Amino acid sequence: MAAQKKERWASRIGLILAVAGNAVGLGNFLRFPAQAVDNGGGAFIIPYLVSFLLMGIPLLWVEWAIGRHGGQHGHHSTPGMLDVLGRSPILKYFGVFGIFTNLVVAAYYCYIESWTLAYSFYSITGAFNGMQPDEIATYFDNYLGSNSGGTFNFPVTAIIFFLITILLNLWILSKGISRGIEKASKILMPILFVFGIFLAIRALTLTAGELGAKHDAIDGLNFLWTPDMNALTNPKVWLAAAGQVFFTLSVGMGSILCYAAYLRKKDDVALNAVSAGFMNESVEVILGGSIVIPIAVAYMGLESLASYSGFGMSFKTLPTLFQNWGPIFAALGGFIWFSLLFFAGITSSLAMGQPVLAFLQDSFKFTRNKATIAFGITIFILAVPTIILYDAGAFGEYDFWAGTFSLVVFALGESVIFLWIFGIDKAWAEINKGADIKIPIFFKYVLKYVTPTFIIIVFVASLIQPAGGEWSQAFTSLFSGNGWPLDPGSVIGNVLHIGVEDPDKIFITNLVRILLVIVYAVIGTLVYLAWKIKFKEAK
Ligand code: TRP
Repeated sequence: MAAQKKERWASRIGLILAVAGNAVGLGNFLRFPAQAVDNGGGAFIIPYLVSFLLMGIPLLWVEWAIGRHGGQHGHHSTPGMLDVLGRSPILKYFGVFGIFTNLVVAAYYCYIESWTLAYSFYSITGAFNGMQPDEIATYFDNYLGSNSGGTFNFPVTAIIFFLITILLNLWILSKGISRGIEKASKILMPILFVFGIFLAIRALTLTAGELGAKHDAIDGLNFLWTPDMNALTNPKVWLAAAGQVFFTLSVGMGSILCYAAYLRKKDDVALNAVSAGFMNESVEVILGGSIVIPIAVAYMGLESLASYSGFGMSFKTLPTLFQNWGPIFAALGGFIWFSLLFFAGITSSLAMGQPVLAFLQDSFKFTRNKATIAFGITIFILAVPTIILYDAGAFGEYDFWAGTFSLVVFALGESVIFLWIFGIDKAWAEINKGADIKIPIFFKYVLKYVTPTFIIIVFVASLIQPAGGEWSQAFTSLFSGNGWPLDPGSVIGNVLHIGVEDPDKIFITNLVRILLVIVYAVIGTLVYLAWKIKFKEAK
């Protein structure tokens, strides 16, 4: 099966930076602060760190080990990797998730990435200088093609920046693992760290009265780091924390497994997984937590923080706040912030592309260039609905099904397949093979029992999450015969369109779901063909 010449990582530092680049992304700088604010700041941190230790780290070991094992069998994407772990022919169809999520997430993720490219360009050319806050806010809405009148204008500029972003991704991907992805990470990640440290220092040293700030920025840090023990019993916060751990570590997508497939047989996975995980967490809680929130608090105060979370905070609020720094520093601050986001984004979107390329190369003997072009065209087509139906919720549907729900399903499946079907003893041996650290044996039990249970709880809770995340009220309602009040954001609530009145929106949402099912089915068919044509004699 070694038809393809073996690609490899060139150096350990390059590997670590590439894997850190994979994990460190828009999630660290945009999603984490938004989640932390939405879930009460200090209330969020403990569930978040516990989820990281009991679920994040074990899942990283599972993914690195499956990936390296799969690579030894000539598989660099999840259908083949899971196939070699057990006897059932079903496993490879479950592995379709590891292609599906990467493709669909890459489509909307590259779109967000392209906004950051556009905004670093606009910042450095001083486009926001002298604008009022509402003008900056409108600028972003116009950029996306939606204006306050509720009409839609084709966002030509946004599409041009999107195409440039895709082409940059394809150009790097076409150069291969060590000369493309690894090299880009070695250049971009250090710049990202320097930019992040610079912005964090600037943010944290802002004091009331300086540069128009009304409060000390450090108040924002206290908000995040004053733990609220009461929140420990709130499942809504746990769910959000676990979801963020998934997203930020890039687990549940098949992407880590793909990177690990380019290791040698006896290369360490135990230490690599932990170091990459901790590097991502440091960037997230130290840098990601010290920029947006403290700057926003310094200018707007803690009270109004909650109304600014999400994309608005980064694309509307921050450029507005930078305006207080005078034209030159506003331009520079904006440029540094948005190029940091762009570097974080591109090193992650490359990681979504590679599993797709690997699948086409392994299964259909595509050359790298041909696979790259196929990937580019597919994500562009898949992105079209999220661009033109942005307001109608197509973007949100992609993010919900491919970027959130599928990750949990895949993580649960891969853990069961590896830890229970392949078997915990073989799995443990696989994780420890060539290991540069000794993992405490205690983790063997965490892996076998705690991690899968944790994921099952997260999964079930997300299916039936009650209205407003109020679990005790929901049980009261259930026991008094009034039924279970589902939250619109729960999986079942989402499927049933709970709380959505607009028939157009329901129609579009349903179309998007059908599209996503078709995408899964098409990839499933490709897997079927690949096994029929290429892998049958190997079994
Ligand atoms: N971890 C990335 C971030 O924080 C996003 C992400 C999720 C990702 N899954 C991925 C990146 C898979 C690459 C591959 O933004």
